Amino acid sequence: MADKDGNILAKDYGIGIAPPVHNFHVKGMNSAGWGMQSRLAKIFADDGHTIMLAFDHGYIMGSTAGLERLDLVIPPLMQYADCLMATRGALRTCIPSNHNKAIALRCTADGSVLKDDMSFGTAAVDIEDAIRMNASCMAVQCFVGADGELGSLDNLAYYVNAGEKYGIPVLGVVAVGKEMERTTRYFALATRLLAEQGAHIIKTYYCENFEQITAACPVPVVIAGGKKIPENEALAMAYRAVSEGAAGVDMGRNVLQAECPSAMLQAIRMVVHEGAKPEEAYRAYELLKKDVK
Ligand code: R5P
Repeated sequence: MADKDGNILAKDYGIGIAPPVHNFHVKGMNSAGWGMQSRLAKIFADDGHTIMLAFDHGYIMGSTAGLERLDLVIPPLMQYADCLMATRGALRTCIPSNHNKAIALRCTADGSVLKDDMSFGTAAVDIEDAIRMNASCMAVQCFVGADGELGSLDNLAYYVNAGEKYGIPVLGVVAVGKEMERTTRYFALATRLLAEQGAHIIKTYYCENFEQITAACPVPVVIAGGKKIPENEALAMAYRAVSEGAAGVDMGRNVLQAECPSAMLQAIRMVVHEGAKPEEAYRAYELLKKDVK
């Protein structure tokens, strides 16, 4: 029963003290609603940066090197990531739910790598299921310039509209199909286009003159790692991307196919959150690798 009598009377009203002004730390999201900001704050640390660990490759590639047993591989790595990017199927079957990491839920189905043109994807996950999965953001593949461009923008519009309704941000993923360009001009067009369609975060590939892309994109940009390259080169790419305005990385294979994934993720962490130079991070990687062995 609520106490009606005997409560200590309120007395500290802070008369004359203006309410604190909060500047939200995620680029372009100052006027987003409270729930959306809360989800974005789970993805992006106070420095505005994030490390997303991507292990959603199975949704198009099936079982991939380093990702054969998500239930064994991912849980020990989660502590070094800010956000886990995965499909609902992988999360439900392989990832314990008692963690406090952000979730970038892969929401489109885009066919398999057996298809020549994957641009005719569908909005596979209902907004209700994204809410059930406690998604911090919904990842939508977009094929700018491909035959299925309009359909993929329709998928994006569905998630942006539903996300705005329920306070869930959308991660617009710039797809690069077999025949599609990988130039600065292309990435500049695609990133800006997705942001203007309402995506709250953009994922793209690193390229020359990357600072032009991040400058012209009004929301945070994170880079995908792409195919496995030597660890020192992947760290250098992450460093250049962040120095040139990226808000972080959304990496999969360059972590999961590294000789020592946990050391690699910690080294990436040094670059993204601590501003370490790539050489320093690589030295740390070599040392951490020895500790794990
Ligand atoms: C593509 O299949 C997925 O969206 C991956 O999550 C994305 O490409 C990032 O992974 P990676 O760093 O391996 O390219």
